[in-house]
Amino acid sequence: MTDGYLSINGRRRLSGETRVQGCKNAALPCLTACLLCERGEACLSNCPYLTDVENTAEILERLGAVCRFDEGGHAVSVRAENVFGSAIDNEMMNRMRSSVLFMGALLSRTGEADLGYPGGCEIGARPIDMHIRAFRELGVDIDEEGGMIRCRLRSGLKPCQVSLLCPSVGATENIMLLTAKSEGRTVIRNAAREPEIVDLQNFLNAMGADIRGAGSDVIVINGAKELRGADYGIMPDRIAALTYMAAAAACGGKIFLRGANPEHLAVCVSVLRDMGVSVKRVSGGMIVSMSGRPNAVNTIKTLYYPGFPTDAQPAFMAAATVAKGTTVFVESIFENRFRHAPELKKLGADIDVNMCQATVRGKESLSGADVRACDLRGGAAMVIGGLVADGTTRVYGVSHIERGYENISRDFSNLGADIRMIY
Ligand code: EPZ
Repeated sequence: MTDGYLSINGRRRLSGETRVQGCKNAALPCLTACLLCERGEACLSNCPYLTDVENTAEILERLGAVCRFDEGGHAVSVRAENVFGSAIDNEMMNRMRSSVLFMGALLSRTGEADLGYPGGCEIGARPIDMHIRAFRELGVDIDEEGGMIRCRLRSGLKPCQVSLLCPSVGATENIMLLTAKSEGRTVIRNAAREPEIVDLQNFLNAMGADIRGAGSDVIVINGAKELRGADYGIMPDRIAALTYMAAAAACGGKIFLRGANPEHLAVCVSVLRDMGVSVKRVSGGMIVSMSGRPNAVNTIKTLYYPGFPTDAQPAFMAAATVAKGTTVFVESIFENRFRHAPELKKLGADIDVNMCQATVRGKESLSGADVRACDLRGGAAMVIGGLVADGTTRVYGVSHIERGYENISRDFSNLGADIRMIY
């Protein structure tokens, strides 16, 4: 965790190349899945070096697994032959949202799990009722009392068809972790279709699972007898890639994003093209170039994948603050995901928020100020705001940003920005 701030001298065109880090939201479930590996060593490469990854490894170690990171922190190997715990304390659970995935992994491995409620960015109520309902349908006894969740598989798992009320990423992953090793077939209907779910399926299958359909809304899990060690490379982080693309839209210039996968970015690329940005797929990544101010896009509504991702909404809002015209953002996934709007206003942005809708009237320029990252993606929006504003911007609350971006000042420096971390 960092106590410093990011100092940004804005109004520079971006130019240069940066490598897109491994995907946080794929690395965390895959790392949690290592708990299912009863034999051999599971090795994940292209892992982003982030506090949430370290926290996940710490939970694994407290449960008895042994985790080893390579020197750069981008490859981690996990041996989980000896798991001797089934409880995770509240403080650990509170550090991040994805800690809830240990519910499925621990139940699968030990038949029980005692844990608190997960933490994570404060972007909405973020209940876990769908996880709990699905687990009960699959035969798990669950008592919720005094802020703790006590889960027991007293008479074994009962594989069945589970229909999710909405395509929750976390609930889909948790069910996959619970049932990958089981006797029988589980079918998830209305499953989340995010690329990160496909990554988890591919890693579990590499360990010996038989899961099909990830990427569609029906996932079939034919329970495997045992999962064993495997090597797997985590997908590139599509939200990190979109953050740099939105920055290029705001600041202008030409950047090469090494490793960006255009297959995951289709909807956002068409929004960027409407904004006047040129996006080209080239060998090894994508080239993004822009001259002049972006065009406003009438409405950007966040939706489940393959719709416009809620995680990219803050970065695109930052770009919209300097667009030619008015952009309306409709946030339909999380009810409290406009906390960056008042901070962008400190830079001079013209934004009105009304419930789940934000109206952004683009201005010719913003001016530097002291602002705060209130959550991870909102923090990325503050960095883009600083990059496009005249003068100096100081972004506080950097620990939020560090939960999802390995080194945002390094990456934007590679892209020609004047940005420094000050301790
Ligand atoms: C994942 O969160 C991501 N986190 C989030 O990324 C991302 O914003 C979100 O999916 C949506 O894409 C990780 O992968 C670790 P959900 P998750 O369950 O799984 C409601 C980031 O910045 N819901 O798909 O928590 C929920 O309130 C983070 O990297 C229930 O009502 O999201 C929300 O409205 C932030 N009950 C919607 O479903 C439940 O039991 C989608 O949530 C579960 C969810």
